Amino acid sequence: MPDRYAVIGNPVAHSKSPWLHAQFARACAQDIEYMCIEAPLGAFPATLDAFRAAGGRGANVTLPFKQEAFLYCASVSERAREARAVNTLVFDRGEPWGDNTDGVGLLRDLETNLRFELRGRRVLVMGAGGAAQGVVPSLHSAGPAQLVVANRTAGKARALAVRFKGTTGCGYDGLAGDTFDLVVNATSAGLAGELPALPSAQELFAPGALAYDMVYGRDTPFLAYARAAEVRASDGIGMLVEQAAESFLVWRGVRPDTRSVLAALRRG
Ligand code: ATR
Repeated sequence: MPDRYAVIGNPVAHSKSPWLHAQFARACAQDIEYMCIEAPLGAFPATLDAFRAAGGRGANVTLPFKQEAFLYCASVSERAREARAVNTLVFDRGEPWGDNTDGVGLLRDLETNLRFELRGRRVLVMGAGGAAQGVVPSLHSAGPAQLVVANRTAGKARALAVRFKGTTGCGYDGLAGDTFDLVVNATSAGLAGELPALPSAQELFAPGALAYDMVYGRDTPFLAYARAAEVRASDGIGMLVEQAAESFLVWRGVRPDTRSVLAALRRG
């Protein structure tokens, strides 16, 4: 019997996680089965209980349940505690334990795949919701010279920033005059085809800057805005692959190579 894992979200049918974990399992000679489970809104804990009772050994959690997954766990890793969200659940080591691999997934995509060194750089994160909360701790730990969180609702950005020493929070109007080496879009604006109210790209991006949209699989207005100013732009497909590889490592004790999988996804 293969060991059972799943990704749980709502909606979840289009998740690439089953495909990713199947590639990793084959490459690492691990006998696992990985499925998609759509949890009804309001029934996430019951869905997890049922999956565990059916022998599930671990799960990935995606929108909109990452904060609920954090509450479900008996204990969590340090990085999940900082993010206050869980995307990786482990069931086969006693009480449910939670981890968060999103932040390290972003760091690995930036530093290894895109060869963007964060230390000493000026970094802007757009957004202060769950997605931003998941990556700000890791970006902070990478030692940027400056870390600014900007959000449409400025108070949420300030509340997030205050938790990380040296980090500031503001509304988009607070960015005037600031220039960044990396701008990470952690808002959901792109899903609605919208662009946050940013200053002009010429003002916002330093020479050689990188624009990164955590959304993947679609050309967002933010990526178009960056490219129009000839700024290097990347979607979040590499982060998706890297966070999955880190989850696989947590569960199976072996880190899969991500290069060929990422190349295959980029080819479409
Ligand atoms: P997620 O888990 O994807 O982060 P969320 O917690 O609902 O989802 O947060 C969505 C984020 O996208 C928020 O930062 C939101 O800004 P507000 O806090 O001001 O609502 C941001 N967002 C969504 N649509 C946006 C838009 N059209 N322009 C700017 N920011 C937007």
